[in-house]
Amino acid sequence: MTLILNRSDVISVLDMKDCMNVVEKAFAELANGTAVLPLRTGIKPPDGISLYMPAYLKEMGALACKVVTVYKDNPAKYNMPTTIGKVLLQDINKGDVICIMDGGYLTAVRTGAASGVATKYLARDESNQTAGIFGAGVQAKMQLWAVATARDLKHATVYDISDEAMDKFITEMSGKLNIEIKKAKSAADVIKADIICTASSSAEPLFDGKLIKEGTHINGIGSHSPGARELDTEIIKRSMFVGDSREACFSEAGDIMIPLKEGAITEDHFYAELGEIITGKKKGRTDGKTITLFKSNGLAIQDVAAAKVVYESAIAKGIGVEVEI
Ligand SMILES: NC(=O)c1ccc[n+]([C@@H]2O[C@H](COP(=O)([O-])OP(=O)(O)OC[C@H]3O[C@@H](n4cnc5c(N)ncnc54)[C@H](O)[C@@H]3O)[C@@H](O)[C@H]2O)c1
Repeated sequence: MTLILNRSDVISVLDMKDCMNVVEKAFAELANGTAVLPLRTGIKPPDGISLYMPAYLKEMGALACKVVTVYKDNPAKYNMPTTIGKVLLQDINKGDVICIMDGGYLTAVRTGAASGVATKYLARDESNQTAGIFGAGVQAKMQLWAVATARDLKHATVYDISDEAMDKFITEMSGKLNIEIKKAKSAADVIKADIICTASSSAEPLFDGKLIKEGTHINGIGSHSPGARELDTEIIKRSMFVGDSREACFSEAGDIMIPLKEGAITEDHFYAELGEIITGKKKGRTDGKTITLFKSNGLAIQDVAAAKVVYESAIAKGIGVEVEI
């Protein structure tokens, strides 16, 4: 039997704290060599792109593949979303697909979870911190949830080019997290924060890296193609650079690839993978002045870990529909 879980099923069982726990373990497996993570494979049919993201986590006993499609004309032509994702979770002993679940909400939570784990290890550990969020879309909401789970947040500021998106963000997230969230007039209001998340669809830098104060932690999760970036050369140069994966950063992340091409940094500027910090192979923050930066491209190990926790929780709660395929 295969368990089918729709978006509301996934929403009802996936909590940020649980997701951060398993995502942390998944990054540790990557650093310890017990994760199998092929680079994502893409196929381009005429109207869009189809991406296949498989991974295996040996210690967790989890095997899955996420299928994501990006079809730009979907909303106008078919009244369907541009990006659609589903995760196929397999039984590691028998190989059979035991669960097919919606991957949209799962992707947003697991992306937030990676930033939450990075914040836990790299941000200053003080009470009453502030968060600044660039973008007010799907991912941005989960970034704030994750930062609020990792640190004691006093208040947050959000900036988006869409006023409507900011209003929705504030209504939804201030209720959910019970913290004060202010609408920023410009990027200058956001960069004063202790912890900054960039989660926009911008392909251009969102702020001037010279203006970031010492001790700031940044999670950069948007742009992940070689020619696009949310972070400028200056902030990359000033930061201790930690990536989700070295390979993904140097093949997908304009944030580091553009400064490298400009000759502003060398490859040695890549300090560590997040898993190396989690497992203690490399030191995290050692003082209150360093600017730490986590660049996330999104790895299939995060999807696999999140899918396993969703499946186990759904089985325990009797959620979803079982079908014979
Ligand atoms: N790292 C990962 O694992 C991962 C996973 C999923 C999505 N993403 C990326 O995250 C980004 C956001 O995705 P989403 O699903 O939230 O998209 P979304 O469309 O829901 O939200 C993006 C928001 O960014 C805003 N924006 C665009 N330019 C801006 C600017 N210059 N300043 C401030 N706001 C601006 C838009 O108005 C929009 O509200 C995308 O680039 C996406 O590819 C990364």
